[in-house]
Amino acid sequence: MNSTINEKFKGRSLLTLLDYEAEEIRFLLDLSKQVKAEKGSCKQRFTGKTLALLFEKRSTRTRCAFETAFGEEGGHPVFLSTADIQLGAKESVEDTARVLGRMFSAIQFRGFKQSTVETLASCSGVPVYNGLTDSFHPTQVLADIMTLEENFGDCKGKKLCFVGDGRNNVARSLMVICSKLGVHFTVITPPALNPDWELIELCAPISAGSGAKIRVTDDLSEVSGSDAVYTDVWTSMGEEDKKAERIALLSPYQVNPTLMAKTGRADTIFLHCLPAVKGEEVTADVIDGPMSRAWDEAENRKHTIKAIMLASLDCL
Ligand code: CP
Ligand code: NVA
Repeated sequence: MNSTINEKFKGRSLLTLLDYEAEEIRFLLDLSKQVKAEKGSCKQRFTGKTLALLFEKRSTRTRCAFETAFGEEGGHPVFLSTADIQLGAKESVEDTARVLGRMFSAIQFRGFKQSTVETLASCSGVPVYNGLTDSFHPTQVLADIMTLEENFGDCKGKKLCFVGDGRNNVARSLMVICSKLGVHFTVITPPALNPDWELIELCAPISAGSGAKIRVTDDLSEVSGSDAVYTDVWTSMGEEDKKAERIALLSPYQVNPTLMAKTGRADTIFLHCLPAVKGEEVTADVIDGPMSRAWDEAENRKHTIKAIMLASLDCL
């Protein structure tokens, strides 16, 4: 373990991977692989630590990954939904952060605004982990790249193609991590759902440095040669009123056997952050078929999340 890098993680939040250097992301990925290899061992590295889990939106994987990763090593996680606490209603986010920072070793937040997770980090004095906002889903994409590497080795120079809602939190976070790590990343989406230019411009110098080719297109043939094809739901949490509009826009972009065949490769893997709406963004024969690594990817959420907590809480 590189102790200089290790030192950089102590007390650190994970709000977006834009804040992390490539070598720091590499460190987290390598640590995640080590954590996975240790699966089932009885280490108790979080003994005496506490974790507040704040949820404005629903979750299966993220909540369970944080709770089980922390709890099985002696930590005490506390789940707090907006039905339980005043978060921004009746009590400001700043005041909630100050109080939680006095009682907890770390905070996880899942919700709407990126500014909320940023305020929690700036006011609590403890590490804060972004478990998904409208803008980013950084813990997800660590698990995605880990899964890509389990299948193809070092991710640098590999091609990951996201097909679907190109402006959502997962597509945006993939663009960031791929730019940092030198993964060629293609977003195939209708122009109305292109990722915002601000993010593309932010990623341009990063990808120039790493050698990643970042492309945004509506041409499905650009899936050709992909190591991995990735999709996500067409309507993200909080956008339920857009469902009909998204189905109309995105139906041609469904990931089905015809689309997978356009890669021209037999070994392309399929990734999905889950939950999936089978029959919309992906057909059951793809997500439940031999190309799918969605279930490994879901498990890897736990290992990557444990790695982030071990590093930032100085529990290595
Ligand atoms: N992928 C993911 O974040 O899943 P959950 O919404 O179930 O946490
Ligand atoms: N884009 C999806 C991801 C779910 C993990 C959403 O925000 O609902």
